[in-house]
Amino acid sequence: MKEYLEVTVPGGDTVLVEGEALFELVKGKGEIFGVEIPLNSKIKVELFKAVPFHALTKSELKVFSGKILPIKGETIPKDWKNVFIRCKERRKPLKVLVIGDADVGKTGFVTFLANKFFNEGFRVAVVDSDVGQSDIGPPTTIGLGLMTKQVVMLSEIPLIDALFIGSTSPSNLFHRVISSVSYLVNKALKELKSEVVIIDTTGWVHGENGRELKFSKALAVNPDVIVGIQRKTELEPILTYLEKFFHIERINPAEYLRYRKREERRKIRAEQFKKWFNGSKVKEIDFKKIPINYCFLFTGQPLNKEEKKCIPISFLDKVVYGEVLEDRVLLVLKGGFEVDMNVLTTVSRCLNKEKVTFTNEDKLKNLLLAFQSKRKMFEGLGILLSIDFEGRRGKVFTSVEVREDSIIQFGCLKIDPFSFEEKYVGKWVI
Ligand SMILES: Nc1ncnc2c1ncn2[C@@H]1O[C@H](COP(=O)(O)OP(=O)(O)OP(=O)(O)O)[C@@H](O)[C@H]1O
Ligand SMILES: [Mg+2]
Repeated sequence: MKEYLEVTVPGGDTVLVEGEALFELVKGKGEIFGVEIPLNSKIKVELFKAVPFHALTKSELKVFSGKILPIKGETIPKDWKNVFIRCKERRKPLKVLVIGDADVGKTGFVTFLANKFFNEGFRVAVVDSDVGQSDIGPPTTIGLGLMTKQVVMLSEIPLIDALFIGSTSPSNLFHRVISSVSYLVNKALKELKSEVVIIDTTGWVHGENGRELKFSKALAVNPDVIVGIQRKTELEPILTYLEKFFHIERINPAEYLRYRKREERRKIRAEQFKKWFNGSKVKEIDFKKIPINYCFLFTGQPLNKEEKKCIPISFLDKVVYGEVLEDRVLLVLKGGFEVDMNVLTTVSRCLNKEKVTFTNEDKLKNLLLAFQSKRKMFEGLGILLSIDFEGRRGKVFTSVEVREDSIIQFGCLKIDPFSFEEKYVGKWVI
């Protein structure tokens, strides 16, 4: 029995190959997102994603795994090509910001545009500012990639650097997202000397927050072109405003798109985390030597004997650790315990601190962390397994080589180190 399916694609037609898939072009000529596919090389399609193989001449594919859907004609809209031609005529360096609702083909268009420019010899960088469905860098980060070859999937672009946002949604973290996009676009232009920088975005365009996010991103990037992909007129409230300051290209979504359900998006992320944690080991971290960010922990002084007396005796056995900072008291409770408001008021008054920030050990276990260094804003991810509060040390599951100049950032999610499934816990958990 053959281990593959032979598929013939008439010249001019398309086959959508849905992942996880593996296939090969054995005869003919065809393209995916503007890339001409070499004969006899295997092409991988990630889980719950699809790529359109467009046959330029009658072609034969060997499909080893995955689903296929034959389509008459082409799925790359004419608009995409026209936008590329118009962008090509513009002054370089060129910054292109791509916006649109979820599942309209933003990433597909970014892949197409990046390939087209790369093919013409331009130095092309892509900033992936979608923290949920990340292609460049892991979920929870904003990634900067520099093209070294044409790609079928954006995730093939090598990561140069990234910034950790800490969550799979920009919700409540707009400032991190905006400053990170701005930082990475600058890096692409100044350090990498990119001639074309394309910025992919999240599908959050609705409501006051969706609009604000897009306005702020546009200001931070100061793009030469904004490409708005819309099904109907859903982007108009954003575009008609931005049009006063920026050149806008409006395009329709591709006709055939593979929609991703919420649950599928979570699964994609779990797969991505799994890849990023490949080769990880449990490592000892000395928090006395390594600065930490996005948390209060270990930035003050542990409660001394006198200060500990401010915790009611009946509650003392539930407190694992306490620390005093300039403006607050931190309390870490034993797993399973919740805070008692009366206790908080007593502690706050007794220690003369307005705020008491508390958490419990359950929330900290498996918390997602990121490592930075002097050289790179993003060295990799980690999972916090346990903390020895008194010794200011911790056990972290990571593939990052922890060094003297490492810095750790605390995330807003927990990641199960076996299934890599995520659970939101909130920002600044301690
Ligand atoms: N022109 C196209 N023809 C066929 N399939 C496409 C095309 N553009 C994108 N796709 C596929 O459709 C799916 C959704 O598209 P894509 O990921 O580009 O959308 P998106 O707007 O970036 O979604 P998200 O909001 O999740 O980031 C993907 O699997 C993609 O490969
Ligand atoms: Mg996308």
